[in-house]
Amino acid sequence: MRSHLTAAALAAALLATATAARSDDAAVIALGEETFNTYCSTCHGNNLESTGQTFDLRKLKATERARFQNSVTNGKNQMPPWKGVLSDAEMEGLWRYIRANANEK
Ligand code: HEC
Repeated sequence: MRSHLTAAALAAALLATATAARSDDAAVIALGEETFNTYCSTCHGNNLESTGQTFDLRKLKATERARFQNSVTNGKNQMPPWKGVLSDAEMEGLWRYIRANANEK
């Protein structure tokens, strides 16, 4: 009986942890979406759907975080730099929002 209770408590704890991690993820992605809609969608399209005028962010690969960080921070050609505009949390959110909608997961 005692071990049964322990297993149940452990399962509950694990479930609570998993649920917390999921809602954290959702919050980070939601912040990214909000940030994208505020600063990026005018050029990069609603819901990340590029009209073809600018780089389609959904093409970014999981390995291209450094490229993303550098281009967004410092700008690239027609894109202005976002250094000093975006917080680290917004940058992380943008990346996670883009990755959540990427062509190649
Ligand atoms: C004024 C229009 C404009 C806005 C606003 C804008 N971008 Fe861009 N972005 C561009 C253009 C144009 C390019 C293509 C640059 C090139 O390769 O010549 C680009 C390219 C990029 C790239 C790819 C760069 C690379 O490494 O090739 C990323 C990543 C990106 N933008 C992210 C963002 C994010 C995130 C935001 C919002 C914080 C944003 N952009 C806002 C115009 C914009």
